[in-house]
Amino acid sequence: MRVVFLGLPGAGKGTQARLLSEALEIPQISTGDMLRQAMADGTSLGKQAREYVESGRLVPDDLVLGLIAERLRNPDAARGFILDGFPRTEEQAKGLDGLLVKTGTRLDRVILIELDPVVLADRLGKRRSCPVCGAVYHLESRRPEHTGVCDECGGQLVERPDDQPERIRRRVEIFKAETAPLEAYYDRQHILARVAGDGDIADVQSAIRSALGPGK
Ligand code: AP5
Repeated sequence: MRVVFLGLPGAGKGTQARLLSEALEIPQISTGDMLRQAMADGTSLGKQAREYVESGRLVPDDLVLGLIAERLRNPDAARGFILDGFPRTEEQAKGLDGLLVKTGTRLDRVILIELDPVVLADRLGKRRSCPVCGAVYHLESRRPEHTGVCDECGGQLVERPDDQPERIRRRVEIFKAETAPLEAYYDRQHILARVAGDGDIADVQSAIRSALGPGK
């Protein structure tokens, strides 16, 4: 299965991609996580990406496409993958199509997780993330067992710098301008499925599995 997750910031892409990755045993590939890791490691990519990521703007297409091209060459992606937060522009979507053509493959499904933007500020304002393993929590809907500590690896949970109200507004505007047109792009390829993102986490996961087809 080669799957893309689209959706507004805070729609639940990362939460759902992680669950699906465990269920289908294919990697979750999050450009956001990869960029944050590059920033933490102080690599050249991380240094170039920092001002974009922290202010809520998109990192230039050529940098992100290079990152994805390299990641998809990893043998663990041969059986399939879940792209979480990529592509985000038409340029990236075309670049991805080109990469897949070269390997004789194509996307099976693009899942658009739909959510009322009114809910986003609460979701993102109360999000806590583990910088070590990438696990994502919420102060009400997905609380860690011990406050501030990751259940999975014991890392110290943090707030993301781009989850400040003004930066959330900017990310939403950028989504509407740059990423929302991908809905039509993938609809034309007949691979788009829309899933309501406002149920509880398990219900959204069930809806996604149904949208992927029988046996998923
Ligand atoms: P990225 O990390 O991809 O951020 P995003 O797309 O803004 O999405 P989020 O991670 O904020 O939200 P999510 O949909 O994954 O929600 P989550 O599951 O965490 O990108 C960050 C930045 O990196 C970008 O702004 C850009 O600068 C750069 N970047 C990344 N990719 C790029 C690309 N392709 N091109 C250019 N630049 C790129 O859930 C949110 C919260 O809600 C959590 O607390 C969670 O526990 C909770 N929650 C989830 N589901 C539910 C539910 N059903 N009910 C209740 N609570 C829920």
